[in-house]
Amino acid sequence: MSKLLTLENSLREGLGSQRSGVPCSLVIFGASGDLTKRKLVPALFSLYQKHLLSTSFSLIGTSRSQLSTDEFKHRLKSALDEKIPGISSALWESFSQNFHYLPLTGGFNNLADYQALSKLLNDLDQKNDTLGNKIFYLSTPPEVFEDIISNLGRVELTREKKGFSRVIIEKPFGHDLASAQMLNQKIKNVFNENQIYRIDHYLGKETVQNLLVMRFANSIFEPIWNRRYIDHVQITAAEEIGIENRAGFYETSGVLRDMFQNHLFQILCLVAMEPPISFEANAIRDEKLKILKSIRPFEEEELKTSACRGQYGGGYLGGEKVVAYREEAGVNPLSTTPTFAALKIYLDTWRWVGVPFYLRSGKRLAKRISEVAIQFKEPPDLLFKNNLQAISPNVLVIRIQPDEGITLKFETKVPGMAFEVRNVNMDFRYGTSFTVGAPEAYERLLLDCMLGDATLFIRSDEVEAAWEALMPILNYWETTSPQEAFPNYEAGTWGPAMADALFVKPWRKWRRL
Ligand SMILES: NC(=O)c1ccc[n+]([C@@H]2O[C@H](COP(=O)([O-])OP(=O)(O)OC[C@H]3O[C@@H](n4cnc5c(N)ncnc54)[C@H](OP(=O)(O)O)[C@@H]3O)[C@@H](O)[C@H]2O)c1
Repeated sequence: MSKLLTLENSLREGLGSQRSGVPCSLVIFGASGDLTKRKLVPALFSLYQKHLLSTSFSLIGTSRSQLSTDEFKHRLKSALDEKIPGISSALWESFSQNFHYLPLTGGFNNLADYQALSKLLNDLDQKNDTLGNKIFYLSTPPEVFEDIISNLGRVELTREKKGFSRVIIEKPFGHDLASAQMLNQKIKNVFNENQIYRIDHYLGKETVQNLLVMRFANSIFEPIWNRRYIDHVQITAAEEIGIENRAGFYETSGVLRDMFQNHLFQILCLVAMEPPISFEANAIRDEKLKILKSIRPFEEEELKTSACRGQYGGGYLGGEKVVAYREEAGVNPLSTTPTFAALKIYLDTWRWVGVPFYLRSGKRLAKRISEVAIQFKEPPDLLFKNNLQAISPNVLVIRIQPDEGITLKFETKVPGMAFEVRNVNMDFRYGTSFTVGAPEAYERLLLDCMLGDATLFIRSDEVEAAWEALMPILNYWETTSPQEAFPNYEAGTWGPAMADALFVKPWRKWRRL
């Protein structure tokens, strides 16, 4: 059987069959925080409602906040009510009956707390029959990742004596290449790579996974998916929101660390990678890694023309006045942190040599939208020279969010006696083609971790290769002033005008979304 056929079969098996969670305990560090109540518990609740959560499941929340189990549960219920109104007390009680909260006695570095955690896990294992299976979810700021991991090692909760022991690590994974390497090293001192699940919630999105299905479960795309037919690719992740209350994080992060090192580079990999030899996690990660390693290193001179940075000023969004980044609470009034970036990337591979990939992301842009647009080469301009409009190239758009779907733009004849040509769209929308809604990213990722499926998680070498590709730009931007004084774009627009300068050829320009 050909490798592509094997892949198609694995795709059918992997995605078609129903999968449900195995008995386990989930320990969330930082459980008093935003992610737990806004994303993790709603995802668990959805799994529970679909009967995909094992009946032998326990949740232990832990953090420095001194909460009782009842207070913890009350907080979670209030947050869930906001998201899904009308959950009955009986349903909530049955869902949360095995939820517990363990307050830490100091910070995250007190060995006695981890001994208490180990004892509680043992007790729950006996009581709920969780088979010794444990998942540790690090939902804290990254400053305490190392403490948590090394203490889990000290009390041997990382060892798989009975059942599995896995760790899920939230982004950001490192602040730069050196810190990511260091963190990888620290984790690998106590966990094996196959126990480590580095999360990028973009990979949990249905449309991102569909990139693999679209490319490798259809035969029409593969022959044209290369430099001979594709003119360029645009990947956009635009946000309407500003930094909300996260000035402390964002000031030291900026858009490259927040969006490019993980989400945009992961999408780039899925668009550009070669067909993997199977749908197995490492086979896919091997191919993604090759793409990250093939990113042509940015030379300093080139950075002026291939990378554009921006920071939002005040403006209007949805009719509301919004303040400039420098006026947000907690932000340095002279901050040079970029909230927008656009990059032109070349991949030095046989398939893609010479094809530019344009990536852009920013906060306070005109619209919340993430998409991939594949622009094909223009047809020879011989036959329709007299057409009123110039013939436009075919574009295949994969919409990641919102309004998930795929659109193909192509030229067609306008009905009538003349021979007028105009472009139209062929459109597929998830919402209208399927009756079931797509699961939330965290739902899919939590279930995958319970099942030991690391396909949608990131391997250590991928994280490091992504940092390595980004370091020249980070270093350059952190040691030079922006070419244009910040702020250089108004909130509610599509970013700084100078982002247009990344395009040299007249037929290439940012898509109007
Ligand atoms: N929220 C999101 O939508 C989102 C999205 C993507 C990724 N993430 C990542 O997920 C993780 C958790 O996010 P989150 O929004 O829930 O974070 P958070 O609310 O800032 O923090 C989670 C909990 O960690 C503890 N904590 C906060 N600062 C701490 C510090 N300096 N030292 C030790 N403990 C501290 C706090 O609990 P106690 O005070 O009770 O200890 C807090 O409730 C972060 O790594 C974040 O980058 C979040």
